[in-house]
Amino acid sequence: SAAEKGGYPSFMLKEIAEQPRAVADTLLGRIGPEGTLTLDEIRIPARELREIDKVVIVACGTAFHSGLIAKYAIEHWTRLPCEVELASEFRYRDPILDARSLTVAISQSGETMDTLMALRHAREQGSRVLAICNTNGSTIPRESDAVLYTHAGPEIAVASTKAFLTQLVACYLVALYLAQARGNKDPEGIRSVIRDLAGVPGAIERVLAGMEPVRELARSLADQDTVLFLGRHVGYPVALEGALKLKELAYMHAEGFAAGELKHGPIALVDRGLPVVVVVPSPQGEPLLHGKIVSNIQEIRARGARTVVIAQEGDTEVVPYADHLISVPATPALLQPLVTTVPLQVFACALATARGNEVDQPRNLAKSVTVE
Ligand code: AGP
Repeated sequence: SAAEKGGYPSFMLKEIAEQPRAVADTLLGRIGPEGTLTLDEIRIPARELREIDKVVIVACGTAFHSGLIAKYAIEHWTRLPCEVELASEFRYRDPILDARSLTVAISQSGETMDTLMALRHAREQGSRVLAICNTNGSTIPRESDAVLYTHAGPEIAVASTKAFLTQLVACYLVALYLAQARGNKDPEGIRSVIRDLAGVPGAIERVLAGMEPVRELARSLADQDTVLFLGRHVGYPVALEGALKLKELAYMHAEGFAAGELKHGPIALVDRGLPVVVVVPSPQGEPLLHGKIVSNIQEIRARGARTVVIAQEGDTEVVPYADHLISVPATPALLQPLVTTVPLQVFACALATARGNEVDQPRNLAKSVTVE
């Protein structure tokens, strides 16, 4: 009903708008004043956390994308090897796991069959399992050794938005907690990222306040057949997520690529007028990759692409090559997906609406896939 949607035309729009709050709630009570984390729920004693020698993340769909981003953070902050795998593939493999492995199962619903089976498969090999989940008491947390709940509140729209951002927050918390418990060569750096997390809800608020041009752009692209998404580093999974949202909601052909792969094939798709969304890393945080992606944007534009560039505020280098520029507030490089994902959600939602689609209940999809 209209009342349940809190005055928004759809649950999806309501849930997109709730993201600053969802992120703040997921951080609540977990960050101490000195930039230290308390995650009592993790329940694994510090001594055992120091013995972990490998992290394996299993998930499906959007939750899998949060895992892909987590890999960059976990490896960088903890120096632990981290693998991320689609639960539907992992469960049929012979993974190499033991009591020193930590398997992280990420699921909004906590009921996704493939993710549940993947976690059982990991447990059979002796791995510890930590669930990141949004649904209290659901099956995945019940079958895990520990659970870190995301506090997004109920997500009704089939397309995941606020659950995704809070999954990211939970992944960052796990990575930073492991770094804190195991020691990091730059403990002040770790504390500073923890403090930066506290500023993220405000940053998302600012992104949301500037979304009218994105909606306008989406409406102007309603007749397109294809949209491509490019990113590097943590922007690569963001590109995958942007493409998934567009497939689910707008029923358009959308694909995400690692920008470094362009020359290995995808650039052949670029033709006059093709919209290409590019997620640009922070010029200060990732100067090398920033330069590389600026050349990628030049390359596709020279071949006629219509470039939609998502870049950090004050990034003047990309301006000459952006047909449409979407600016997001500065964050530490690894946290950038928390702000760059938001315009992609709004874009997909507006494009779907412009094409006459029902955004809360896309055709052929169920909110949680409890069958194989
Ligand atoms: C997201 O927009 C999707 N509808 C879908 O990919 C979803 O993220 C996936 O099915 C996993 O669901 P879960 O988080 O409940 O396990």
